[in-house]
Amino acid sequence: GFYVGTAVAGGGHHLEQDYPDPFTHDRKYRKILGQQFNSVSPENQMKWEFIHPERDTYDFGAADAIVEFAERHRQVVRGHTLLWHSQNPEWLEQGDFSKEELREILREHITTVVGRYAGKIQQWDVANEIFDDQGNLRTQDNIWIRELGPEIIADAFRWAHEADPEARLFFNDYNVESDNAKSDAYYELSQELLAQGVPVHGFSVQAHLSMRYGFPGDLQQNLQRFDDLGLETAVTELDIRMDLPESGVPTAEQQKQQADWYQRVLEACLAVEECNSFTIWGFTDKYSWVPVFFQGEGSATVMTEDFERKPAFYALRSSL
Ligand code: XIL
Repeated sequence: GFYVGTAVAGGGHHLEQDYPDPFTHDRKYRKILGQQFNSVSPENQMKWEFIHPERDTYDFGAADAIVEFAERHRQVVRGHTLLWHSQNPEWLEQGDFSKEELREILREHITTVVGRYAGKIQQWDVANEIFDDQGNLRTQDNIWIRELGPEIIADAFRWAHEADPEARLFFNDYNVESDNAKSDAYYELSQELLAQGVPVHGFSVQAHLSMRYGFPGDLQQNLQRFDDLGLETAVTELDIRMDLPESGVPTAEQQKQQADWYQRVLEACLAVEECNSFTIWGFTDKYSWVPVFFQGEGSATVMTEDFERKPAFYALRSSL
């Protein structure tokens, strides 16, 4: 009943454009993916810009391949994501739509994508990163909230639930590992929506952590308060980055601290009753998004670029 997952790299993303897709081209990668995990999350392949590249065109190829792979390997899938401010196609962000049209575009997208994989997705990140770090709704950069108002969030959950009544529907965000303004905002919104009978089932923390900052020591208590609301919780995108020395190779001390942090995040989840899903955002540095997005930081996953297991890998294993 406990799921240990990884993001599945690929779909044309932070890696160079013509980089061969790891999922289809790297045999060693695929083998580990199939063997070490019982949950998978498409890193990019279900995002709007990939799955819905033109208004009247869906491209399900890469997402289908992951869902089929998961079925063959008896893995569950976390769907990611339906309502987000980022990685939306240009036709959507630059389009000139009336409110009615936009609402219909979102409804149709959710119905189509969630409906296609109905029965095959364990958890959906329905609303991703809807609050800023101060706990304010993203009323500027999130097209849906900006154009349609906050009520659209509840609608997204309702549409997803209609399209797949079995899928567990989540709020997902970063910088919400601790009890802070941002996680408080989710706590309040969850309470409101639950009181209104909106089908919200879970709250998940991405957990993109950096060793530049401290470990979120109240992670377990924070997950617990959402558990107490009757929600499931999950860790969905864990990676732990660090400042690399000149050599590019982390010191033994850094490796040890990283292993310790990985384990502490896992232990926090294991200690909370309905935290049943724990996903790392890629398992090898070879395809990690970290060095591309965070200048000077790296080595954030549990395996080196050569798929060598780091202390973090063994630390996780010893807690499972
Ligand atoms: C990242 C992917 O890892 C990259 O490949 C992509 O270029 C940008 O997005 N929060 C999320 C994820 O919800 O979708 C993001 O994934 C990382 C932060």
